[in-house]
Amino acid sequence: MTERPQPAASADDADWWRNAVIYQVYLRSFADSDGDGIGDLEGVRAHLPYLRDLGVDALWFTPWYSSPMADGGYDVADYRSIDPAFGTLSQAEALIGEARRLGIRTIVDIVPNHVSEQHPWFQEALACPPGSPERERFWFRPGRGPDQDEEPTGWTSNFGGPTWTRTKNPDGTAGEWYLHLFAPAQPDLNWNHPEVRAEHEAVLRFWLDRGAAGVRIDSAALLIKDPVLPEVGADLRPGEHPYEDRDELHEIYASWRAIVDSYPDTRVLVGELWLPDAQRFARYLRSDELHTAFNFDFLACPWDAARLRSSIEATLRAHAPVAAPATWVLSNHDVTRPVTRYGRADTSFSFAAKRPATVTDLVLGRRRARAAALLAMALPGALYIYQGDELGLPEVEDIPASQLADPMHFRSGGVDPGRDGCRVPLPWSGARPPFGFSPEGARPWLPQPSSWRELTAEVQAADPASTLSLYRSALAVRARDPALRNGSLTWLPGSPEVLAFRRADDFACMVNLSPELQELPADVDLILTSTAFDGRWLPPDTAVWLRL
Ligand code: GLC
Repeated sequence: MTERPQPAASADDADWWRNAVIYQVYLRSFADSDGDGIGDLEGVRAHLPYLRDLGVDALWFTPWYSSPMADGGYDVADYRSIDPAFGTLSQAEALIGEARRLGIRTIVDIVPNHVSEQHPWFQEALACPPGSPERERFWFRPGRGPDQDEEPTGWTSNFGGPTWTRTKNPDGTAGEWYLHLFAPAQPDLNWNHPEVRAEHEAVLRFWLDRGAAGVRIDSAALLIKDPVLPEVGADLRPGEHPYEDRDELHEIYASWRAIVDSYPDTRVLVGELWLPDAQRFARYLRSDELHTAFNFDFLACPWDAARLRSSIEATLRAHAPVAAPATWVLSNHDVTRPVTRYGRADTSFSFAAKRPATVTDLVLGRRRARAAALLAMALPGALYIYQGDELGLPEVEDIPASQLADPMHFRSGGVDPGRDGCRVPLPWSGARPPFGFSPEGARPWLPQPSSWRELTAEVQAADPASTLSLYRSALAVRARDPALRNGSLTWLPGSPEVLAFRRADDFACMVNLSPELQELPADVDLILTSTAFDGRWLPPDTAVWLRL
């Protein structure tokens, strides 16, 4: 069943990003070569053959820069160096080159909205008095009220709690406040400042010059703030929010597009845009702005035929006018693993509703996650795979409180379980932790469940019915089949609880979301199925790929 895939994108393919399979590496949890319990660049290098055999076209690395790690590296102290826990700049350059020789491109993560509190700019700003030019690169403001002890605005942080922290003056008295849409360790930059713009353009060039094939832009809709800093009103029209999706952002991304387009081969910009309005979302994908953006509507969608179908239709409809390809994303390092999410009564995802485990049926969840993977891989556009989803890993929900690291958990007062549960180090081999993630005897930074001995890459590679084998086979078919890479999508008639569509003339995907068996059409050949069955009656929660 397992076949060696052909690379989907040839070396000179200018359109590689339109249907690429992009694998997200959460570096800290991928593979640890030196035994400190933290994944590193050498660990990735050692597993490049695994990634090639899986059949991915590109790797997206979550931030690997020097960082105090207050938010898993999304608090960058120096964009031009690699954090020592991960390796060195020359190792990163070598990794980019070696991956490329195997046909795998590299996408780096840029975090323009904020820096680490340890970034030299912020340290300078703290050391300088109110009103000084050093503070202009951030959002420093006096507090409200007679003693200035009330926050400048009542905004709520994306991690919960206020968005402002008060500073101390050098003499120990209380000083100005600074803005942070995320944790206090992540002060927001002022994008009206020319040096902030120039520095990010230079950082972009720094990584493109080192061979990065693209950048993922973190929190891409948040950079620009209304300088008046008004409260978030109740009935905002699009573009009126004080810090989300403001029209001035487009000019920034147009200037970035000009930079990436100045390179002879195609380098891409991928936006992290959580925007409810599909039209507003698509504006970022106009031909002189970003190439693609993550499809969070699809990610958050419950396991429900009508909802999935309308998400797919809305996605394709929104992308068509700007001629941008859609992306299909089932998970990432911020959300609940699909195997767990699909095994619950509420199969949708939302940050606001994220709570510790209630009842989870992992057998059902895994069955659905496998079907969802075949669905996502059959849709037109680019595909993202979060590390470990190809192994069918569940969310880990019993990490001891003393080992939790995510600020989202702490800043919610413990109400939100946080994102550590999807960031547990990968199980590669062996019968007990660290499962080949670290050298024997080392302790991974988050504990791995002992039950993962059945989910190691080693065990799954030897089992044709495993989730890993399903991913490998499906990605191999996808890479080979032009219908899947470039063909349009046409819905096929049938039960509303079955998603059935054709790609080009001869390929079809059917997903049964009903509780009953569904008969397959006659005269079709089965290419792949997410769950084994008799070939005639498609079982519930099963996807099948067919040759018509
Ligand atoms: C993005 C990242 C997330 C991070 C946040 C702040 O949403 O995906 O992990 O915490 O930005 O940088």
